[in-house]
Amino acid sequence: MGRDLGTRLSAQDAQILTEAKPDIAVMLEAFSSLAAALWAALRPGTVLLGAVAFLFFADFLKRRRPKNFPPGPAGLPFVGNSFQLDPEKVHLTLQQFVKKYGNVFSLDFGTFPSILITGLPLIKEALVHQGENFSKRPVMPLQERIFNTKGLIMSSGRIWKEQRRFALTTLRNFGLGKKSLEERIQEEASYLIQMIREENGKPFDPHFIINNAVSNIICSITFGERFDYQDSQFRELLRLLDEVLNLHTSLCCQLYSVFPRIMNFVPGPHQTLFSNLEKLKMFVAEMIENHKRDWNPAEARDFIDAYLQEIEKHKGGDASSFREENLIYSTLDLFLAGTETTSTSLRWGLLYMALNPEIQEKVQAEIDRVLGQSQQPSTAARESMPYTNAVIHEVLRMGNIIPLNVPREVAVDTTLAGYHLPKGTVVVTNLTALHRDPAEWATPDTFNPEHFLENGQFKKRESFLPFSIEEKPDVAVMLEALSSLATALWAALRPDTVLLGTLAFLLFVDFLKRRHPKNYPPGPPGLPFVGNLFQLDPEKAPLVLHQFVKKYGNVFSLDFGTVPSVLITGLPLIKEVLVHQGQIFSNRPVVPLQEHIINNKGLIMSSGQLWKEQRRFALTTLRNFGLGKKSLEERIQEEASYLIQTIREENGQPFDPHLTINNAVSNIICSITFGERFDYQDDQFQELLRMLDEILNLQTSMCCQLYNVFPRIMNFLPGPHQALFSNMEKLKMFVARMIENHKRDWNPAEARDFIDAYLQEIEKHKGDATSSFQEENLIYNTLDLFLAGTETTSTSLRWGLLFMALNPEIQEKVQAEIDRVLGQSQQPSMAARESMPYTNAVIHEVLRMGNIIPLNVPREVAVDTTLAGYHLPKGTMVMTNLIALHRDPTEWATPDTFNPEHFLENGQFKKRESFLPFSIGKRMCLGEQLARTELFIFFTSLLQKFTFRPPENEKLSLKFRVSLTLAPVSHRLCAVPRG
Ligand code: HEM
Repeated sequence: MGRDLGTRLSAQDAQILTEAKPDIAVMLEAFSSLAAALWAALRPGTVLLGAVAFLFFADFLKRRRPKNFPPGPAGLPFVGNSFQLDPEKVHLTLQQFVKKYGNVFSLDFGTFPSILITGLPLIKEALVHQGENFSKRPVMPLQERIFNTKGLIMSSGRIWKEQRRFALTTLRNFGLGKKSLEERIQEEASYLIQMIREENGKPFDPHFIINNAVSNIICSITFGERFDYQDSQFRELLRLLDEVLNLHTSLCCQLYSVFPRIMNFVPGPHQTLFSNLEKLKMFVAEMIENHKRDWNPAEARDFIDAYLQEIEKHKGGDASSFREENLIYSTLDLFLAGTETTSTSLRWGLLYMALNPEIQEKVQAEIDRVLGQSQQPSTAARESMPYTNAVIHEVLRMGNIIPLNVPREVAVDTTLAGYHLPKGTVVVTNLTALHRDPAEWATPDTFNPEHFLENGQFKKRESFLPFSIEEKPDVAVMLEALSSLATALWAALRPDTVLLGTLAFLLFVDFLKRRHPKNYPPGPPGLPFVGNLFQLDPEKAPLVLHQFVKKYGNVFSLDFGTVPSVLITGLPLIKEVLVHQGQIFSNRPVVPLQEHIINNKGLIMSSGQLWKEQRRFALTTLRNFGLGKKSLEERIQEEASYLIQTIREENGQPFDPHLTINNAVSNIICSITFGERFDYQDDQFQELLRMLDEILNLQTSMCCQLYNVFPRIMNFLPGPHQALFSNMEKLKMFVARMIENHKRDWNPAEARDFIDAYLQEIEKHKGDATSSFQEENLIYNTLDLFLAGTETTSTSLRWGLLFMALNPEIQEKVQAEIDRVLGQSQQPSMAARESMPYTNAVIHEVLRMGNIIPLNVPREVAVDTTLAGYHLPKGTMVMTNLIALHRDPTEWATPDTFNPEHFLENGQFKKRESFLPFSIGKRMCLGEQLARTELFIFFTSLLQKFTFRPPENEKLSLKFRVSLTLAPVSHRLCAVPRG
C-alpha cells in the first residue's frame, strides 16, 4: 500500500514530504499519513456503510465456533441469544433448550461465547474434577475497569489462589481478638431486634435494617468495628453499595461491556458506578491508613491487620501479590459480597415465613422448646433444631439468589462431555435446574422444609449447591447479575431495531467524544468516526497542512479518527512545547496497537516515572560505550570496511542498497546491545532484519489502522496485524534468548554490553518492588534500540546516496574534500569531521531534505494546560510540524532543493536553529550522537571508495514509501569503485 502511494507522488511533493521519523517510535506518525491514504479513497457517505459491513463481518468471524463445540440455539449478530431469554420465563426457556440440545449447550450473551452446563454429574466434573481448568473468572470490560482483575472475586490464577487462601484462613481464625465471630453475630442480632421492635409491629421495609445488621458483621471482621445504624457515614456506604448493585444492570453498564473505549467518554449511570466505587475504595484506603497508625504487628485485630502482617512478611519479594492495592480490593470484595448475599437470603426467609404461617409456627415451636425466650440462638443449638435448619436450607433452595452461579472461564482448551471447549469460553452452571429438578425434590416449585428432613432429622442433599462447590464459592454475585440484566435489556428490543439503535448510538457517542472544550484550538470540521483523516491525502498532505496553518494559525486541531490532536507550527511554539513546557508534553499517547505490541513499556512509547528511569539509564549506558575492548567509533569504522567489501562485490553493477545498508547499520546497535555483530550471510540475522522490515511495513496496513479503532474486535480477526503481533513476539523471544545467554556467563564485575549493564541494574534494585528495572523492560528497551537504531540511520543513509547520485556535482565536491583531508588510505573519523565542513553540510542537508519523521513522534498533554492562549485538555495528542520548519522559505534559501550551502558560511560549517531532525528538549532522540557518528563515518567511507550513479536507462526519483519512516522507494544504484 505504502509503496503504491509512494510511486504516485510527484518528485516535488516527495521533496516536501521526505522528513524522517527514524526509529520505531515513528509508528504513530505513519498512522496519520497512512490512514489518510486510506480514507482519501473513501467518500464520507460510504464510510458508514463500510463500517457497518465491517462490524457484521467481524461479528460473523467472532461468532464462528470450532469443530465439536456444543450445539445451541442460533443467535443474532451482536446480541447473540440474549433476546431469546425473557427474564420472566428464563428458567422455562432454558429448560426447553436443555431438552433440545442436552446438558451442555452453547448460548451467546452478546459476543461472549458461553456454554450452560446442567445436571449434577457434569457440574461436578467442571467445578470439582476439572476445577483447575474452570477456575478462571471471565474478564468483562466493566469488571476489569472496576476490579482491575484484582482482589478475591474477579482475580484469576496465582493472585486469586494466594488471596483466597489467605482470606479463608484469616476468616476461619476469626475468633481473633476479644470476641468470637458467633458472639459478634449474637450481639448484632440484639441490635437488629431492638431496631425492629421500634417499628411497633407496623408495616416496614426490612431491606435497609437487615442490610445494616449483616454488613456490620463483615465490617467488624475486616475493619474491626461495627457501625451504629444511625451513623451517617455507614448509611452513605450502604447507599453507595446499593446504588452500585442497581447501576450494574443499567443499559449504559451493559453497553460498557460492548464498547468500553467509547463509553469511557460518555456520561451516564456507569460513570456514577465508577465514582461510587472510587468513593468506596477511598473509604477502605482511609481505614487502612487508620490501622497503620496504631498497628501492633504482634496482634492482629482484624482482617486488615492480618493482611498488613502478610504484606510485611512478603516485603522485598517482587512476585508477591500481598500488596496494599490487593488489600483494598479484597476488603471491598468482602464488604460487597458479604453484605448483599446474606442480606438478600434473610429477606427471602422472612418473606417465606410471612407467606407460610404454618411453617413459621413450627419453627417458633422448635425455638420455644429448645431456646425459650431468654437463651440466645447459637450454632451449638442448631444441632437440636433440625426443623429450623431445614427451613433455612429451603429458603436458600427456593430463593436461589444466584441462579446460574457466578460465571467461570475455560483456562485452557479442554473437553467436557465429549465437546471441545476452547480457552476463553464463558461457563455458566445451571444451579436453578439443580435446585428445581423434579427428579430430586418432591415439590420442586413449592416451599417445603421436608426436602431437608428425614424421620424428623436434618438431611443433607447433594443437589443443593447455593454456594457452588469447590474453588470459588459464595461471595461474588455481580457477574451473575450481568446475564439477567442483559437478558432484560435485549428482551425489550426487536432484532431488527438493534442495528439502527447501535448506529444511532455510535453516532451520538462520536458526537459527544468529538465535542471540544471552550477555547480549544480551531481546526477543520471532521466527519463522524474518521475525523479529518479523509482530508489528508498523503500526496498533498504538506500542501493541505500548509493551507490549514494559513487558515487556523500555528496551533490548530485535527482529529485522527477519534483521537483529538493538535498540530504545532513554528520554532517559538515548538520550543515552548518541547523545551519550556517540556514536563507537560513529555508523555506519549497510548494507542491500542502500540499498547498491544509494546505495552507502553521500554523507551520510545513509555511515559512518566518508568520512562524517566529507563531513559536516564539508557543514555548513560550508551554514553559509556566505548565500554569493553573497542570504542564505538572503532566499531563503526570496522563495520564500514565490511560494508565497503560487500558493495565492492557488486562490481559497479546496479544493485538495491537497502538490505546491505540495513545490515551494516543494525550491526552497530547489535554490538552495543548484544555484544556481537552478525555476518551479513547469517541466516538468523537476515531473518531478524526481514521481520523488522515487515513490522515497519505492516504498521501502515489497513488492518493495523482498524485495530486502533476496534481493538477488541480486531483481536479476533485474521490479517496483517496478526502477522505484526507474531513478528513482534518472535523478536521478543530472540531478545529474551539473548538475555538468557548473557545470564549464563555473566560477570557482575564487567559489563560487556547494554544487556550486561542492565542486568547489573536489575541486581542493584532487587527487592525494590517499585523499581522499573525488570527483565520485561530490558526486553522492550533492547527491542526499541534495535528497531530505532536500525531503520532511521539506514533510511537517512539511503537518502544520502540517492541525493548524491542525483547531484553528481555535489558528490564530486564531497569526494574532493575527502581526497584532500583523508586521501584513499586514512579511515574517516569524528576528529577529521572538523576539517570537512562541506561533507558535514551535505549530511545535514540530507537530514533536512530526507525529513524522515515529518511531524515528530507524537506527545500527549499530561495535565490541562494553555498554549498560545488555547486550552489543551489532558490527553490531547500533540504533533510538532518539523517538516514546515525544515521547508520554511523564510529560513532556507532554496527550501525545496538539495543545497548544502544552507549549512555553510564562508566555507565553514554553520549550525541552524531551525534544523531539528532529532527533535529537541528532554525527550529528544536518544540516539542522536550515535546516529551522527554512524552517518558521518558510513557516508564518508562510502564516498571515499565509490562514486554513486543512476543505472543506465533507469530514472531515479525522490518518491517515498510511507512506513514508519518516509523512506525512498525501492531503487537501484551503481557503486563505481574509485582510485
Ligand atoms: C538519522 C537518525 C535518527 C533520527 C532522525 C532520529 C529522530 C528521532 C526523533 C525525531 C525522535 C522523537 C523525539 C521526540 O519525541 O521529541 C526520536 C526518538 C528516539 N530515538 Fe531517534 N533518531 C535517529 C536515530 C536513532 C538511533 C540510531 C537510535 C538508537 C539508539 C535512536 C533511538 C531513539 C530512541 C530510543 C527514541 C525515543 C526517546 C524517548 O522517547 O525518550 N534514534 N528519534
